[in-house]
Amino acid sequence: MKQRDLLYEGKAKSVYRTEKKGRLIVRFRHDITAFDGGKKDVLQDKGSYNARVSAFFFKYLEKHGVKTHFVSMLDDRTMVVRELTMIPLEVIVRNVAAGSIVRNYPFKEGTKLDPPVIVIDYKDDSRHDPMLNDDIITALKLCTQGELKKVKAVALKVNDLLAGLLAEQDITLVDFKMEFGRQGKTIYLGDEISMDSMRLWDKKTGESLDKDVYRFDKGDVMATYNRVAKRIIE
Ligand code: ATP
Ligand code: TYD
Repeated sequence: MKQRDLLYEGKAKSVYRTEKKGRLIVRFRHDITAFDGGKKDVLQDKGSYNARVSAFFFKYLEKHGVKTHFVSMLDDRTMVVRELTMIPLEVIVRNVAAGSIVRNYPFKEGTKLDPPVIVIDYKDDSRHDPMLNDDIITALKLCTQGELKKVKAVALKVNDLLAGLLAEQDITLVDFKMEFGRQGKTIYLGDEISMDSMRLWDKKTGESLDKDVYRFDKGDVMATYNRVAKRIIE
């Protein structure tokens, strides 16, 4: 697969066209950002940890019947994916109250959310990703009602699969974000599922094993990513 022109440079990944129609290359960079880009750093090897964990999850999900954009890895931080027309939604599933749901609503951090809570934000940095509801999503024509129903069902299935897989490693999947896209009428899970887009807590110690270590200066970010990637992949 040959890399062609740069299609999009986001906060943490660069997306390139390839010589093959319908295939893109996603390079996971070592950049890390938080608080709407207000905090930024470059951390050696971060991209590889996130790319490898994402690839591992995508393969696991495909094996269990979830359609993802994953095709293959070119090297340890470069993924070949199916080109999607992205739906501008940040689909977040929450199993335990933490982060913005605790800041914005009277939930106590650590409260179990059963059934899981789905929160959908509008992926629009200029508007600071405001929360949506079903009516706003359909009124803005971000996707059809049928697609929204499908997205929510797949999000809950992914949550069940990943929460179960992580529990085997004594890790609680507190919450995580997904992005979906379409090719024709088919909806695929896209983007990444990694330590940058999940909140993971050690079941025994409660320790954060994700980007919260970076957000809140809780310790050595790369040592944490290295340890958690090993726990998940090996
Ligand atoms: P954020 O960090 O809020 O997710 P970003 O746009 O800065 O936003 P990056 O991860 O750096 O995010 O950039 C990757 C971009 O590629 C995102 O806009 C994402 O929606 C898009 N993308 C992911 N998977 C695909 C795909 N299969 N086809 C087309 N675009 C994709
Ligand atoms: P959330 O608690 O809403 O935001 P914050 O991280 O600011 O407290 O985030 C819920 C989960 O979704 C968390 O694991 C991080 C992930 N997420 C992203 O990866 N990107 C995003 O743009 C958002 C809003 C959340």
